[in-house]
Parts: sequence; structure tokens; C-alpha cells
Amino acid sequence: MELIRVKDYEEMSAKACELVKELMNTVQSPVLGLATGSTPEGLYEKLIHTYENGAISFSNTKTFNLDEYVGLTKEDPNSYHYYMTEKLFKHVDLKEGNAHLPDGAAEDKSQACEDYERLIKSAGAIDLQLLGLGMNGHIGFNEPGTDFKSRTHIVTLDESTRQANARFFNSMDEVPTEAITMGIQSIMEARRVVLLVSGEKKAEALASLVNGEVTETFPASILQQHSDAVIIADEGACSQLR
Ligand code: GLP
Repeated sequence: MELIRVKDYEEMSAKACELVKELMNTVQSPVLGLATGSTPEGLYEKLIHTYENGAISFSNTKTFNLDEYVGLTKEDPNSYHYYMTEKLFKHVDLKEGNAHLPDGAAEDKSQACEDYERLIKSAGAIDLQLLGLGMNGHIGFNEPGTDFKSRTHIVTLDESTRQANARFFNSMDEVPTEAITMGIQSIMEARRVVLLVSGEKKAEALASLVNGEVTETFPASILQQHSDAVIIADEGACSQLR
């Protein structure tokens, strides 16, 4: 793992944007793995500016998001489909058919998981997978205890994750209890993973990831075994590193 320490959220987003831009300008048909949450919002703003300045184009890019809530339609403002449309897709020249997220509204959810894995395979492999870090060590929605061999699957969200994400919903009752997420194995097959971590509230989790053992009870720890994992973390996030 390579740890890039930056000053703050702004620098983290700029560094991440640089890495994505570099990939998009060297690979002919880039496949990007995308993440949601508060952490990548600054990166998406910078990617939009970079696109507007003519320095990148998404016309040959395919994207695969990590996860989606079960039971929310694409139009639901709390769905990750909606988030991606608002924060990135509608502002750039990404072709509609090239933007993929798991289908959380599918009737047959197991089928939706299989279909998603097949789609990723048919794109070749993910060149760069962006990740955020859950306070309990989750990546995507792979909660503590997830099998390292897992592929896209349905998960029951931890109560702590529901609480952490409740800020986006009107009330706790509205926060979904399940999600579809790429599995740990699906994430590990990306050629490169880039984990963004910002703020003191993530400091303990980052310390466990960097200094702790590799264990399924802390899913992000598996990144220690990835051959090209880059962590971009700001001062707050690094404050508990040994
Ligand atoms: C969410 C998402 C993750 C995200 C993480 C951190 O639950 N499913 O993909 O990386 O939690 O979120 P945030 O960036 O808002 O702290």
C-alpha cells in the first residue's frame, strides 16, 4: 500500500483527480469504479471542472459503482443512482449506457448481483476503483465479517452504518436496511484501488487499516494485500497513525 499524506480535504480531492485524469489519458477505454458518500464529492467536482476545461473526456469510459441501497428506485433522491447523476454523470460526456450501478430495485436481487458481476467481467476489469472508508472498516457496503472471497452480494447494513448514513434521510426509519454491494473479491480484482480518507472521525479506522492485522472483522484491511493500493489521507485522518 502506498500512503499519500495531504493537508486537507481539498488537497485529497485534487490528488485523487490527478490520478483519475492520468488514467483517463493513458488508457483508451478506461473502466472506473466509483464510490458514493461525502468523501468523493470534492473529487467529482474537480473531475467536472477538468472535463469542462477539455483535459478529460468520458466518451470512452465505463463506470461501475460499488453499491446501491435495496428498495430505492433510480429516481429516489437518496439512491446512489440519483447521487451519481447529480454529482457527476449529468455534467460530463459519459454515455448513459456506460454508467452502471447495482439494481437495488430489481425484483430478483440475487439475479441482479449475478448480472452485475457479469457486466464487470464483460468490461474486462476495473482499471481504478475509488473507495471511501466506513468508520467500522467497511468498503463499499462490505460490513465487518464479510468473506474476503465475496462477490457482488446482498447485505444487511450494520446499525452503525445506518446511523452514519441517516444524515442523508429525513428519519432513521427511512434508512434502508439492505444494500447490494460489490464483494471484497470484486474490489480486489481492480487493477488499482484508490482509497480516500478525510477528517479526524476516520482516524481510528485508518490506523486500524494501516497498522492492524488483515482480518475479515475489519474489511478494509484486505487492501494491505492489493498489489496497487493507494491511500490518499489528510492530516485529520492520519492523526492516529503510528
Ligand atoms: C457509505 C458507502 C461507502 C462509503 C462509506 C463512507 O456507507 N456505502 O461506499 O465509502 O460509507 O462514507 P462517507 O464518505 O460519507 O464517510
